[in-house]
Amino acid sequence: FNQILFKNPNEPPVIFHWFPVIGSTITYGMDPPRFFQENREKYGDIFTFILLGKKTTVYVGPAGNEFILNGKLKDVNAEEIYTVLTTPVFGRDVVYDCPNSKLMEQKKFMKIALTTQAFQSYVPIIADEVTNYFKRSPDFKANAGIVNISKSMAQITIFTASHSLQGSEIRNKFDESLADLYHDLDMGFSPVNFMLHWAPLPWNKRRDYAQKTIAKVYMDTIKERRAAGKSDSQDIMWHLMNSTYKDGVKIPDHEVAHMMIALLMAGQHSSSSTSSWIMLRLASRPDILEVLYREQVETLGADLPPLTYEDLAKLPLNQAIIKETLRLNAPIHSILRAVKSPMPVPGTKYVVPTSHQLLAAAGVSATDPEYFPEPDLWEPTRWNKDSPLAPRLAKSVEDEEKIDYGYGLVSKGANSPYLPFGAGRHRCIGEQFANVQLQTIVAMVVRQFKLRNVDGSNKVIGTDYASLFSRPLEPANIHWEKREQ
Ligand code: HEM
Repeated sequence: FNQILFKNPNEPPVIFHWFPVIGSTITYGMDPPRFFQENREKYGDIFTFILLGKKTTVYVGPAGNEFILNGKLKDVNAEEIYTVLTTPVFGRDVVYDCPNSKLMEQKKFMKIALTTQAFQSYVPIIADEVTNYFKRSPDFKANAGIVNISKSMAQITIFTASHSLQGSEIRNKFDESLADLYHDLDMGFSPVNFMLHWAPLPWNKRRDYAQKTIAKVYMDTIKERRAAGKSDSQDIMWHLMNSTYKDGVKIPDHEVAHMMIALLMAGQHSSSSTSSWIMLRLASRPDILEVLYREQVETLGADLPPLTYEDLAKLPLNQAIIKETLRLNAPIHSILRAVKSPMPVPGTKYVVPTSHQLLAAAGVSATDPEYFPEPDLWEPTRWNKDSPLAPRLAKSVEDEEKIDYGYGLVSKGANSPYLPFGAGRHRCIGEQFANVQLQTIVAMVVRQFKLRNVDGSNKVIGTDYASLFSRPLEPANIHWEKREQ
């Protein structure tokens, strides 16, 4: 009733709700994509709902992606929203616990370490970690069986990322206890912590203990390296230890340690959720898995030599598997920003006031039939230009104008319907690493296994939206069988 009486014609329509604080929190939280879809049909591309007492304006479609993700620094702000979650997990003075200009410099330092040369050294490391994982895992001892693939992929992701990005010293310290500590740290990312991050709850105590303990592992390694005056591997940590901010200050050791935690945590969820989805998709389409296997045999040779970075570029279907899975199962379904000054929405009568927050949901346009024919169909070959299902994108990424926010060139426009890695100043710096990691994992799994659904069907299980990063519902069981050697 309030909404009818006090409706402001200059503000986007408010979704009807019965309870003032709860608003639409529950319907949104249960299935965000469906929530966006249904309300888009009713209200159009821009509308407001109540999320935990806060007016939240959603703007979907390419124009909405541009409006939010490319908003000016004076208008939109990420750190105000995310710092309560990320600072206890990463530690002080990095990412959202510092001004945006400092984050841009930190992203630059981290990105510089993600070079082609680094990737060349990572592919054999990742490939070996995958092979060794299957050799030692009790879940894969027999010749065939059923496994909860999300659990395996979470482990493979942490072992491959820590070994490649952080070097063998850290990987070797990564015994079971450190993996458990990362799990405790991760609990800090529960959505409930948007409100209860400060509370002396058991999981927050474990989170704080884990943060201190892990930061100390990094600090000890930094001290050892400083004392030796050298490092065995020229990895990201070594690079950060020797980087200097624009104002002439060397990155302090605690910031190096906290950036190392941030790097691993930023990639862990997104990459492990994506690799789990890929395995589930392949299990639902064993025919595509066989085409992938043949792609490797025909391109690299029947003896399947050790995989290299250069090989990955020769396997277009292997690459498309990742693109297509991120189109339908992007792990980040909602991106939030605080509104710092009233924002007129171009081409409409609306102004988004500072009492609102903004929500971008790039997944909506990634499943819009206007851009992706038969959008609900997982069909990796659609990324082949000649496919009748090829995306209808205005421009290819290569043709787009580029801009530097301080951490290297990125596409200037954010008005693309396909943005699983975000856009603008907060865009992902881990995209290429994630691609290298995921392509290598997929290639190695395909070499060793045949997969199928337990019941042999083409079904794909539902999505769990209970965490900030969406992932397959558990147990994500699939049937695996070793290829004859
Ligand atoms: C930012 C997605 C892997 C590091 C982002 C954003 C998205 C994203 C959507 C933008 C967030 C925002 O605007 O608020 C993904 C996906 C991944 C992935 C889908 C894997 C499939 C990684 C990896 C790393 C990483 C492996 C590290 C090696 C970062 C960092 C940011 C970021 C540092 C910047 C945050 C900011 O500037 O606010 N990622 N990411 N990501 N990602 Fe990723």
